[in-house]
Amino acid sequence: MKLSDEQKQTLIQTALQARRWAYAPYSNYRVGAALLTDSGKIYDGVNVENAAYPVTMCAERTAVFKAVSEGERRFVAIAVATANGGTPCGSCRQVLAEFGLDIQVIVVDEQGTVHLETTVSDLLPGAFTSKQLPPQEP
Ligand code: THU
Repeated sequence: MKLSDEQKQTLIQTALQARRWAYAPYSNYRVGAALLTDSGKIYDGVNVENAAYPVTMCAERTAVFKAVSEGERRFVAIAVATANGGTPCGSCRQVLAEFGLDIQVIVVDEQGTVHLETTVSDLLPGAFTSKQLPPQEP
């Protein structure tokens, strides 16, 4: 599905707005994400850090987990906002891949300038997916 310019702008603005709520006292690297479902709903997310550093959750996965826990599974695009246009980490790429290799990914900096427009499959070539698992027991 091709995003309209208006949808893209709304998604970017939502990611930028969400970024204000990032909890990043340790890295000071604030991330906001906005995930668009095929029904047109947007779920946002931020990174949530922890004094036990590895427990930290990224913005992209926060958005995906919020959406999935509300019954959503079909995603069209995600916008990610950071200070400098940093790209999604490997774990977030893998989680996005679970729900669609053709999800569009738009990376912006804090000005809203687009640094990268791509897809999950381009970010994670050769992704491990459920197709590689043996048939599941009923
Ligand atoms: N972070 C994200 O939220 N998303 C990514 O894809 C990359 C990293 C967060 C995790 C941590 O809170 C901070 O950015 C620095 O790694």
